[in-house]
Amino acid sequence: MSSSGEAELLHTFKGIPFTIRSSPELLKSLNTFDAREDDVLLVSYPKSGTHWLAGVITKLYTTQVTVTSPIEFGDISQLEELNKVSSKRIIPTHLDYNMLPQHFKNKKCKMIYISRNPKDTAVSMFHYYRDNPNLPTVDTWPAFLDLFLKGNVVYGSWFDHFLSWAKHEDEKNILFLFYEDMKKDLPKVVKEITLFLSLNVSDNDIQDICNKSSFSEMKNDTEKENSDPSHTVCALTSNRKLIFRKGAVGDWKNYFTPKQNIRFQEIFNEKMKLIKM
Ligand code: A3P
Repeated sequence: MSSSGEAELLHTFKGIPFTIRSSPELLKSLNTFDAREDDVLLVSYPKSGTHWLAGVITKLYTTQVTVTSPIEFGDISQLEELNKVSSKRIIPTHLDYNMLPQHFKNKKCKMIYISRNPKDTAVSMFHYYRDNPNLPTVDTWPAFLDLFLKGNVVYGSWFDHFLSWAKHEDEKNILFLFYEDMKKDLPKVVKEITLFLSLNVSDNDIQDICNKSSFSEMKNDTEKENSDPSHTVCALTSNRKLIFRKGAVGDWKNYFTPKQNIRFQEIFNEKMKLIKM
């Protein structure tokens, strides 16, 4: 990674790297944010399938909902902007649990945490770093993997992020989803989401929504001239076209050497040993 690039594009807040698109003033003020009881949070570590999930969820509502920009994105005016949204808010965030504004926790807002095999997440993030002008340059896959395992990437360590949320797996207002389950049986996961959000959606409609949310459909929608290229739920880019790369499970096998896999697995096993999930 070019150190000058890193110095210009990232800053660290409470030990976690953020892009300069999340201003320190905003991050400092997050706890002043006033949540509404009917807010729904879409939570993820970057590259876990956030846009996919957002695409599905918005199609489930028949009433007006607004998918806002991520809560940690922008300058201090962001909190005011979110306050101005008059419809129900679906609020994306990549924050770890400890940094989440306290009001969301007090009000027991519904939160959906999506995660993905961290090896695939790392590969997806590697490409994102390479293609995204808002992120520092990375030279090679081994160099990136090293940064990922040390948590020296935006939003810090995947392990710390996942653990911060997984500690709350028994809380009824938090639903945990896995990207791989969505790939395997999307209608089943969507049904689970409707139950969690208390939405009444027929099986036919669920099937229809799943068809419209396939990787190819979503990629095509984004590429169509009339789609809004800046409509993104990721605090790291305003270019939606960067999101839809491959959409596959197991792409990590094309990148990890056997030695890298062993190293990853050892760290994974050690960090995850106390987690039931
Ligand atoms: P890849 O880079 O592995 O292709 P996020 O939205 O959190 O940034 O996650 C982006 C990842 O989700 C990308 O992974 C992207 O291709 C994948 N993705 C987006 N929409 C998808 C869909 N409809 N089906 C499967 N994967 C999808």
